[in-house]
Amino acid sequence: MSTRLGIIGGSGIYDMDGLEDADWVQVDTPWGPTSDRILTGTLDGQPMAFLPRHGRGHVHAPTDVPYRANIDALKRLGVTDVISVSACGSFREEMVPGDFVIVEQFIDRTFARQTSFFGSGCVAHISFAHPTCARLSKAAAEAGRAAGVTVHEGGTYLAMEGPQFSTYAESRLYREAFGADVIGMTNLPEAKLAREAELCYATVAMVTDYDCWHPGHDAVTVADVVRVLTSNAENARALVRRLPDLLGTRPEICPEGCDRALDHAILTAPAARDPALL
Ligand code: ADE
Repeated sequence: MSTRLGIIGGSGIYDMDGLEDADWVQVDTPWGPTSDRILTGTLDGQPMAFLPRHGRGHVHAPTDVPYRANIDALKRLGVTDVISVSACGSFREEMVPGDFVIVEQFIDRTFARQTSFFGSGCVAHISFAHPTCARLSKAAAEAGRAAGVTVHEGGTYLAMEGPQFSTYAESRLYREAFGADVIGMTNLPEAKLAREAELCYATVAMVTDYDCWHPGHDAVTVADVVRVLTSNAENARALVRRLPDLLGTRPEICPEGCDRALDHAILTAPAARDPALL
């Protein structure tokens, strides 16, 4: 079975070069419009789809990104493996602006997002103890290193609501008491929805700043984030270009079980399910 790779690009990454037969397509979903059209094409002979999370021109704030439509649309296009690339702040001295962190765990501090395809009418509880796919994460780490980037494997991403950056007290709480390694405003809803959609999912968090905890650095501003992203966007693209080769042929079944996440998750009896949700 061939890998159909889906890339979700975050701030600063609104396009993908090097795709053959590139076409921006619109995909209709029951969850409304996606963030933007989706760029489809092939990379090294492998089909790929690219979606700019915030839309071209950066028009969707983190709270308002249509996460459900985005994941649903990638699934409808036949995507099986999703790699999300996004900017993040660092809580660790050694995770320096410019480095990439391949996130393994998440802490959810969002409160105004739609993070499930399920609800009344069809109730499901997926297992989320291991929210990222180890196979995809490993390939992303290798691709990053091959692109010449310093890559940290593992790490906990704290997802905050935003759009304001954190206070000093919050930054210290997340770093010291919660033990988070990086902070951002987007990836967690995607990770939850990807698991519900039985997609493999991994996050490449690009460090842009030290948030506001670091005594040797000023508190983060958008200018800092944009400056680091601008100089690093090409590294992200280089990472993506190496992925098809590194991922090779997709295993028949995901060793992690991402592709079978719903097998024992749905509680509602088949006869009682809302057909609109199926
Ligand atoms: N994205 C990039 N840097 C960030 C930070 N410090 N906090 C939240 N989101 C971010």
